[in-house]
Amino acid sequence: MSRIDELLARMTLPEKLGQLTMTASSYAVTGPVIAGDSTESIANGTLGNLLNMVGPGPTHEMQRLAVEQSRLGIPLLIGLDVIHGHRTLFPIPLAEAAAFDPQLWEATAREAALEAAADGLAMTFAPMVDISRDPRWGRTAEGAGEDPWLGSQIARAKVRGFQGDDLAAPTQLAACVKHFCAYGPVNAGREYAPVDISERALHEVHLPPFEAAIDAGVATLMPAFTDLAGIPMTAHGPLLRDYLRGRLGFDGVIVSDYNAIGELIKHGVAADLADAAALALNAGVDIDMMADAYRKGLPLALARGAVTMAQIDTAVRRVLKLKERLGLLDDPYRRGATAEKPAAIEKRRALSREVARRSIVLLKNEADALPLPATMRHLCLLGELASSKPDMRGPWAAAGDIDGHVTVLEGLSAALPQARITHVDGGDIAAALAACDEADAIVLCLGEAANMSGEAASRASPELPASQQRLVDAVVEQARARATPAPVIALLFSGRPLIVPKLAEQVDALVAAWFLGSEAGNALADVLTGKVSPSGRTPMTWPRALGQVPLFFGMRPSGRPADPQDYYTSKYLDVPNEPLYPFGHGLTYGRFRYDNLRVSPARVSRGQRIEVEVDLTNEGRAAAEETVFAFTRDPVASITRPLLELRGFARQLLQPGETCRVKLSIAAEDVVFPGADLQPVFEPGELQVLVGPSADRALLLGASVQLVQP
Ligand code: GLC
Repeated sequence: MSRIDELLARMTLPEKLGQLTMTASSYAVTGPVIAGDSTESIANGTLGNLLNMVGPGPTHEMQRLAVEQSRLGIPLLIGLDVIHGHRTLFPIPLAEAAAFDPQLWEATAREAALEAAADGLAMTFAPMVDISRDPRWGRTAEGAGEDPWLGSQIARAKVRGFQGDDLAAPTQLAACVKHFCAYGPVNAGREYAPVDISERALHEVHLPPFEAAIDAGVATLMPAFTDLAGIPMTAHGPLLRDYLRGRLGFDGVIVSDYNAIGELIKHGVAADLADAAALALNAGVDIDMMADAYRKGLPLALARGAVTMAQIDTAVRRVLKLKERLGLLDDPYRRGATAEKPAAIEKRRALSREVARRSIVLLKNEADALPLPATMRHLCLLGELASSKPDMRGPWAAAGDIDGHVTVLEGLSAALPQARITHVDGGDIAAALAACDEADAIVLCLGEAANMSGEAASRASPELPASQQRLVDAVVEQARARATPAPVIALLFSGRPLIVPKLAEQVDALVAAWFLGSEAGNALADVLTGKVSPSGRTPMTWPRALGQVPLFFGMRPSGRPADPQDYYTSKYLDVPNEPLYPFGHGLTYGRFRYDNLRVSPARVSRGQRIEVEVDLTNEGRAAAEETVFAFTRDPVASITRPLLELRGFARQLLQPGETCRVKLSIAAEDVVFPGADLQPVFEPGELQVLVGPSADRALLLGASVQLVQP
């Protein structure tokens, strides 16, 4: 009999239900705080998992209660939302996606795992892989944007980074892919609102990143708070039990979201906690986070015959198996046993700065407003975000230390020691105008505070706050009126694309600064001063108007595509169909030309790869790194196919005047899609391959191959 089965055979029902319960916790001055409970439950073995307890001391103190005082000595599983770094923060996930670099995505997860494990943690509630095409939704900040293929690449990289090759190593965390599934299309972009999408959208858009995470070996998964066409995900037997566990063979731990089991009552599918607990357990949810539904509801559900002890044992076995895979049963104290060396933390900060630089997206740069000239004497910095440490962290900062964050003011002051930098928070517009009237350049720090995106932060009008727009209007008017107009540069902090058509028109340069983490100010200074060229590309479309939402490059065709010569075609009367900035858009300090696209072989069967080559030349005056995208378009199929499907990307650094041949490779298997019965199909016929700098079709070179059955 295995160690786990031996343990299980000795467990009482309260001890079993304790292993299926995860409770929030913290460590106050007075000692440990266990939400709605006490450390007594840990000591008597009726609470087996915690979230939010951080630090070697506190986590080991809780472990000792479990291991040395409880009857069976089963160690605790302790988790935290390590979403974009732990104490050293990296850019928020939406920003980091803009780097288009799987090695970087994996590296930041690995570094976050090192730091969190050194703090005694064994699990993170990440990666969040929800596909979002609606900037009203605040959790857009936490994911990889609009595209399922990109989301799948990031899901794999994150699972590899957090979990490594040996989950028992003291430097690794169990990852938790979330929120299963289709949380992004909440109705009207409103947080926690109902979701009702087609089976096809589910299979083509929202499931692939979860399938990728499971294929990469993710240890745990978290269902979404939301329902899907009337079935709450926490009770969704067909998708959790039948699809995830049955069809995909996922045998990891499913942990509910925070009180999500209890919320089945408010969803209207459970009459009481016992009902809710039975629904969740029957669907395959193993751990109840913060509803206490399993401990309080399952005994009654058992008595009602709504669940069986065998089902409870199956869930407990999965939790114990996870603790065994994490090495907790062998050594509960291995995480947090060794403090990190200062050199490791310095190296991590250098990585944070590099990732932040690569996440910055230069959306507009007229008249070479950027980079700022090294000889510049007087820079005026406007906006309270310029000096705000907390806001550089972004949402889901968890244990990210505020004091360690570098502001824009600090970064620019360090990068331009010879310049006079005046900073005014911009609340008093007259003072701001006075401050910038003599400046050689004006940098406006605009957009959202960190708490304006993330969970429970949907915005019906994701625009600039009105006060900021008033400041911009006044500053631009004055700057334009000067005898020698000063360039006006806007740094836009946000957890989502903002609807900023007027700002984009008004300023000379516009930078998507997202929330860049610990090294935000230094990374922005590196790009603004030209120390490095910007290279980030937006992983999400920037709409021109909210009325265009949902707006994304992978839309299906219309039978009446927009045609200015024909009134009765797909259009608006008041705005163009095109976005303000398309997916993949991002300028550099170089200027790139694409020539000689070649695609081979001419005939491709399912198991082959399509080899793509294109000449790329940097015609600009500065070295820069270009991101080349490869899309496909299937013009005729049994189901209408998206206008563009992202299939690959490659980054290439080129010196001024340099040309090189960029090569990409597309697996023909990737063009398999769900047929009419939602089963995967590979259909012969023409496949267009399009290559270029973004999803702007006007900038893409195209060629075709023939897909053939072998
Ligand atoms: C939150 C979030 C989830 C997070 C969990 C624990 O409500 O929905 O993403 O992991 O609770 O903090």
